[in-house]
Amino acid sequence: MKAQLQQLLHRLGLLEPSRRHRATARAYRKTLRDAGRRRVVRSVLKELGYDLVKSAPAQPAKDEPPLRNREIKYPLGSWYQIPDSSLYTPFFSPWLGEGEFKHYYAFAAPRSLVSIDRCYVLYTLLMQSLLIPGDVWECGVYKGGTAAMMAALLRDKMPSKKLYLFDTFEGMPATDSAKDVHKKGDFADTSTEGIMTHIGCPDICEVRPGFIPSTFAGLESAQIAFAHVDVDIYQSVLDSLNFIWPRLSRGGFIIADDYGWPSCPGARAAVEEFFVGKSAIPLCLVSGQALIFKGAAW
Ligand SMILES: C[S@@+](CC[C@H](N)C(=O)[O-])C[C@H]1O[C@@H](n2cnc3c(N)ncnc32)[C@H](O)[C@@H]1O
Repeated sequence: MKAQLQQLLHRLGLLEPSRRHRATARAYRKTLRDAGRRRVVRSVLKELGYDLVKSAPAQPAKDEPPLRNREIKYPLGSWYQIPDSSLYTPFFSPWLGEGEFKHYYAFAAPRSLVSIDRCYVLYTLLMQSLLIPGDVWECGVYKGGTAAMMAALLRDKMPSKKLYLFDTFEGMPATDSAKDVHKKGDFADTSTEGIMTHIGCPDICEVRPGFIPSTFAGLESAQIAFAHVDVDIYQSVLDSLNFIWPRLSRGGFIIADDYGWPSCPGARAAVEEFFVGKSAIPLCLVSGQALIFKGAAW
């Protein structure tokens, strides 16, 4: 009854609309105006062959599968099914798969301190250096893990190359406590005889027991295609680079294994110091290794 009375008074203009009613009426008129504009815009777009669509912000799918085992979406909206998507962890990690590397890694695995991803870097670069003139050197052999992997690969693919192996086989020499974390005598639990049995490719391996750089004597005219420098401490890394770099062929590589390891600050310092002023820049890999490539500029 009250509502009907209010309506009648309003129609006769005897009742001022409340502020709330005025605001509602304004909003209503605006909606009508906007709707009119939208209609005009829509018809113009239709003439041009387009249409207006309602869009909502993209929401992540609730039951999205984990990154492994799923299709990878590339830009431009196309989807590709990657057959070995389980190797994306989150990036492609081929060392986790089957294939040739697995076969050669089996030689390193039982006796190496070098992790599988770092072994994969060695395997790839050794393959890459097969056609580069020169031999293969390893400074820092310990129990012969990475040496066995490289020996097996050379035996199968390029037996004309020699593998030179340098270590005391009696543990670390004296270290510099201001630069190194390792101590004299670390890694002493090995022997020359032990590693020769393990490596098992006497035709292509030349083992040089003793202290670097004395054990480089007689190799001044050497030519090196690939060198694995894995000696962990400042002076040994510096001595190795001093001898190897001038003898490395163009297109050849050095891997400095310990460059990024917090346990080997001296190894990093030696690499950085050695390459100051040289036109090769050590590339720090996410594996912790540093890769040095001797390009055409040399
Ligand atoms: C981390 S181990 C090598 C690991 C090996 N590549 C593997 O596959 O496990 C480091 C080795 O460097 C050797 N080393 C360090 N400085 C040396 C030097 N001046 N002369 C000879 N051997 C050295 C140590 O005796 C030790 O066996």
